[in-house]
Amino acid sequence: MTHKMAALSVDPDVDVSEMDRTDPLRHLRASFDLPADTIYLCGNSLGPLPGNVGARLADVVQRQWGESLIRSWNAHSWFAMPERLGARLATLIGAQAHEVTVADSTSVNLFKAACCARGLRPQRRRIVTETGNFPTDAYVLQGLAQLLGPGTEYLAVERDRILDAVDADTAVLVLTHVHYKDCAMFDMAEVTRRAQARGALVVWDLSHSVGAVCVDLNACNADFAVGCTYKYLNGGPGAPAFIFAAERHHAAMNPGLVGWWGHEQPFDFAEGYSPAAGMRRTLSGTGPILGFATLDAALDIFDGVDMAAVRAKSLRLSSLFLDLVAEKCAGFGLRAITARDNPQRGSHVALAHADGFAIMQALIRRNVIGDFRAPDVMRFGLTPLYLRYRDVWDAVEALSQVLRHGEWKSAELGRRARVT
Ligand SMILES: Cc1ncc(COP(=O)(O)O)c(C=O)c1O
Repeated sequence: MTHKMAALSVDPDVDVSEMDRTDPLRHLRASFDLPADTIYLCGNSLGPLPGNVGARLADVVQRQWGESLIRSWNAHSWFAMPERLGARLATLIGAQAHEVTVADSTSVNLFKAACCARGLRPQRRRIVTETGNFPTDAYVLQGLAQLLGPGTEYLAVERDRILDAVDADTAVLVLTHVHYKDCAMFDMAEVTRRAQARGALVVWDLSHSVGAVCVDLNACNADFAVGCTYKYLNGGPGAPAFIFAAERHHAAMNPGLVGWWGHEQPFDFAEGYSPAAGMRRTLSGTGPILGFATLDAALDIFDGVDMAAVRAKSLRLSSLFLDLVAEKCAGFGLRAITARDNPQRGSHVALAHADGFAIMQALIRRNVIGDFRAPDVMRFGLTPLYLRYRDVWDAVEALSQVLRHGEWKSAELGRRARVT
């Protein structure tokens, strides 16, 4: 198959082989163990296996755990991993090294961040978020509001009315920076500025941003942020998440879910809780050392990588994808819900189709792996570290064939497993 796009009206001069040859990030693909003959468009959900993880895990398991045993907490600095990994991650999100820790899941960290923010605005009742935010965000905030009782109220508002809803009674606005379905991206600086002007604090969920788009939390004067590391950071299934708090909030913040790892002197085994200074107080219990080690190895890939180049390639990949879909897949009932002309988008593309689930299954059968989000959204993650422009070409070619030949119409492909 040729990848020359001479037949296309979108841009007859574009040659994907040439785009790959001149891609400044092309060397990074070799950092991953990608299965042959597979086009992996699901890095926005679970990043692929970095090539260095196996050896790193073997070392931590056999040499550190196996030989050093419990001495590893000191000898291999296991106890400091939440802060050490936080410092590494800080460089990717515009934070200071001491403003980020890595621990727990995104859901748990969101609870802690929202609790910190709510506690810093005791006179205000409301926690505001976007209708259609990722469900865990909504559930965690509903749970927190319930726990805090009648003095706290949860309110979900449509995207275009969000800022109108932030009023004198709003304690905290919780938003996902890049939407998990349509991939639309908030203007973090502007939203933060306007919410803070009304006296509210803002918590950003960066799950679909970190490692994919440029994030500068301190330049945006962000208050709190959380995010997961198993998507664009390739930290592995169930990888520990991160939490950011601006330094100005450290002394007064209370994450609510506290535990001995966040105590100022955990090995005093004191009866009463006394929080550690700074971000250490966001920790609760023993961290997943094997998960930390996997993430540590995965972050090596980002060393020296220019996020502006990642961002530029991401937009180029998604523009190419959308142009090719418009060209090759017209007339089959697909609807692009990620806006081609809006650069305020993250790093995946969402297409809607009434039979989206079965179409995605047919694509996966062809080793083009994306995912599906109910009720009708197919998502294609376009991850600049390991995808080539010709992968985009081949993926859309496969999609057009699935549609043209009605490959998705078998009953078997419509059956849903527990995870879609
Ligand atoms: C915006 C957002 N927040 C949170 C999560 C997941 O949270 P957790 O890792 O706690 O399951 C996801 C997962 O896709 C997500 O898209």
